[in-house]
Amino acid sequence: MRILVLGSGAREHAIVKALLSEGVDHDITAAPGNAGIALEVPVVALDPTNGDVVTQYAVDNSIDLVVIGPEAPLVAGVADKLRTRGIPVFGPSKAAAALEGSKTFAKRIMDEAGVPSGKAIRAGTIAEAIEAIDEYGAPYVVKADGLAAGKGVLVSPDRDAAIAHAEFWLQHGSILIEEFLSGEEVSLFLLSDGHSVLPLSPAQDYKRVFDHDEGPNTGGMGAYSPLPWLPDGFVDEVIDTIALPTIRQLAAEQKPFIGLLYCGLILTKKGIRVIEFNARFGDPETQVVLPRLVTPLSGLLLAAAMGELGSLARPEFSAEVAVTVVLASEGYPDEPVTGRRISGLDDVRDVTIDHASTAVSDGNLIATGGRVLSVVALGDSFASARARAYAALDQISLPGGHFRTDIAEKVS
Ligand code: AMP
Ligand code: GLY
Repeated sequence: MRILVLGSGAREHAIVKALLSEGVDHDITAAPGNAGIALEVPVVALDPTNGDVVTQYAVDNSIDLVVIGPEAPLVAGVADKLRTRGIPVFGPSKAAAALEGSKTFAKRIMDEAGVPSGKAIRAGTIAEAIEAIDEYGAPYVVKADGLAAGKGVLVSPDRDAAIAHAEFWLQHGSILIEEFLSGEEVSLFLLSDGHSVLPLSPAQDYKRVFDHDEGPNTGGMGAYSPLPWLPDGFVDEVIDTIALPTIRQLAAEQKPFIGLLYCGLILTKKGIRVIEFNARFGDPETQVVLPRLVTPLSGLLLAAAMGELGSLARPEFSAEVAVTVVLASEGYPDEPVTGRRISGLDDVRDVTIDHASTAVSDGNLIATGGRVLSVVALGDSFASARARAYAALDQISLPGGHFRTDIAEKVS
């Protein structure tokens, strides 16, 4: 199969590796990719958010399947453009991707579909925001309505900080004030062809920048999979009460969701609640879910793109566990310092490295953004996988770089 993977993060590196690991002679290209992806497959310097350019490339190169990694091309309507030319795409239309791109839209879909989530009030002015902040009380949850690269959410006991966050994001559009939910968080990915869904293995992400969940939210600093503490029947309950009702509601509104439905969930004392939906694979969760996938990924993604998931069995996963730890640049998430040299990658053992913000400059590997790479370790136990991941991080040098030291500690 000729496959084009759009994106340039560690998630896309993990997707490329999973496709390569099938042992089938796929012809894979990534656009734009990064320095690590370029070691595996050809990369082309396309703007993944430019639907015309991507579609022309796919037509000219007889691409059989386009896999869209990040949210920006989805929200820009790249999948729609590709579909007008009959190219199979794993990734939802612009209309369906609003499930991630607009929290107000997601809330409405959930309300119509009877999907359990926290209470929320939309605010368009600071007066409305303050009223809602005081109605729900501390801890305060204030969210940007639109895409914010993981930075739009503030959860804080500090009322002044909540109001400041509301003021900042109101400059970019409306915001949501939500009731605070407490419990363990779960990321569950479901492949969807618009009508049926198939679950992947659950994972847990570490969103805060510092150990023990201190500091601001990030895109994600580490993850592990599976989740040994989940109650029996968890995945089926999510399918029946969350994923299928959501997919059916979107289909009923002529917005079929074809791609990856990422359910960001919280297990509260009152039951499972949705915190957010994303319309694509999560990062860094993908780095721990896909290495454990036994079923060939390409067949699953193509079946979703072609509306044929209903005829497939649930994907199978290995019994091994996986841990990933993200190495971030100094200053991430606020103001990452870029351009610094990364060394030691040739010395690591028993792990794989998924590159995110890397490039080669004057023969040196340098960091070009906030989240630089993900170290991924598999093992028979979380203790052994963790030990491998952290031993590898000891070998890697990035001046000023930082990572959390407590990823998967609680399950080890
Ligand atoms: P989101 O980008 O919506 O996933 O939010 C980022 C993180 O903020 C989540 O992973 C949670 O840890 C936290 N969060 C978001 N919404 C809530 C909420 N209503 N109650 C408690 N924590 C939340
Ligand atoms: N890890 C969170 C996300 O991908 O949105």
